[in-house]
Amino acid sequence: MLSVLIIGTGGIARVHAEAYRNMEKSVRIRGIVDTDLARAEKFARTYELTDTPGFSLYSDYREALAKGSFDLVSICTPPPFHCSMSIDSLNAGAHVLIEKPMALSLEECDRILEAAQKTGRRVSVMAQNRYDTSKARIHRLISEGHCGRVLYAQAYSAWWRGTAYYNTWHGSWETEGGGCALNLAIHQIDLLLWLAGSVGEVTAFTANVNHSSAEVEDLALGIVRFNSGAAAGGLGEILGSTVHHGEGQQLLFQTERAGLAFPFQIKATRSRAGGFPEDDPETVAELTALCNSFPPLAVEWFEGQIRDFVSLIETGAASPFLSDGNSARAAIEVVMALYKSAATQRSVSLPLSLDDPFYTRAGLLEHALHYNRRVLSNLRGNAAEGVGSNAYP
Ligand SMILES: NC(=O)c1ccc[n+]([C@@H]2O[C@H](COP(=O)([O-])OP(=O)(O)OC[C@H]3O[C@@H](n4cnc5c(N)ncnc54)[C@H](O)[C@@H]3O)[C@@H](O)[C@H]2O)c1
Repeated sequence: MLSVLIIGTGGIARVHAEAYRNMEKSVRIRGIVDTDLARAEKFARTYELTDTPGFSLYSDYREALAKGSFDLVSICTPPPFHCSMSIDSLNAGAHVLIEKPMALSLEECDRILEAAQKTGRRVSVMAQNRYDTSKARIHRLISEGHCGRVLYAQAYSAWWRGTAYYNTWHGSWETEGGGCALNLAIHQIDLLLWLAGSVGEVTAFTANVNHSSAEVEDLALGIVRFNSGAAAGGLGEILGSTVHHGEGQQLLFQTERAGLAFPFQIKATRSRAGGFPEDDPETVAELTALCNSFPPLAVEWFEGQIRDFVSLIETGAASPFLSDGNSARAAIEVVMALYKSAATQRSVSLPLSLDDPFYTRAGLLEHALHYNRRVLSNLRGNAAEGVGSNAYP
């Protein structure tokens, strides 16, 4: 029976608690932490934790790690705490499940990975979107080569948020660490990398076009060139947004044989005389039948990932869906390259080196924050500070 500590008892912690509750044969929540004690107490009541033998409630996670003995820590706090809480938990002997984004810089990601390596404990970063039967089926179609190469991929993370959203820890570089690219598009970027392959080059624009209460971007647009996996040599597009009415998350993979999209759809085209297109229903039928022959996931979304992580801890067997620290770091690297490209107004090649200013949080704050403030200032009509007339050196 694994003993679980949840740090942070806000919105997303509820989903973790529900998953753990459904797995009570193998895990038990024995501790929760929140600096807001009233919130933690309410959380404990909601999930009937107070009667659990050995359960304690804390306001300081370091005290929890020192006093309790936890096998697994769910880190559900805002992003600036992810790095220190992960490292301290690993050093206390626990495995860690970190909410996205893994951390606020590549340097922080590397310190977490180093601590995991040193302690021999496991890290997983929440990427629940992988745990969806239709995505799992498309993953098999692509990774088993049924569709040929991926020529073009598109990951649209189109959300809408009002001003009040940015009156919390969201909206500032200090407390959120970035805007919609880091905190929302990260899900789609993870899927893009998982399904298509790794990215070698990024060209991007970011802007804050409609949230003057925030200093982070509310719009990010990136073009990427893939350099490995099914999409090697192909191109992709990334959109992060909190200005899209109606919202709508989209993924599209144009492969040699078919177009694969989420919401789930398969289209195929073949050539008529002269190279002009016509529908190819036979290929659609073949790929659809293949998809339907792949078994559905037994458990989807958050609980699917949490079950896989617990199983990895218990048996050492890793599921192909489970996001580990390395894949989460790869998604952060694409976001940092996107911020670098926007701030420098140049294409950026990956990997970002250890001496790149965008490798560290201090560098990111200095450059991206400075850039965003100038863009924001432009939006508010202060043309003298506009980015066009005052390009990044
Ligand atoms: N996987 C997803 O789809 C998804 C969805 C929403 C949020 N998230 C992520 O989950 C994390 C938390 O987001 P949320 O929406 O639950 O935030 P939230 O504001 O609702 O909850 C955060 C909680 O952490 C507590 N907290 C803050 N600092 C703390 C500290 N030092 N020690 C202990 N507790 C502390 C706060 O009091 C609060 O109760 C973020 O990283 C966010 O990006 C992931």
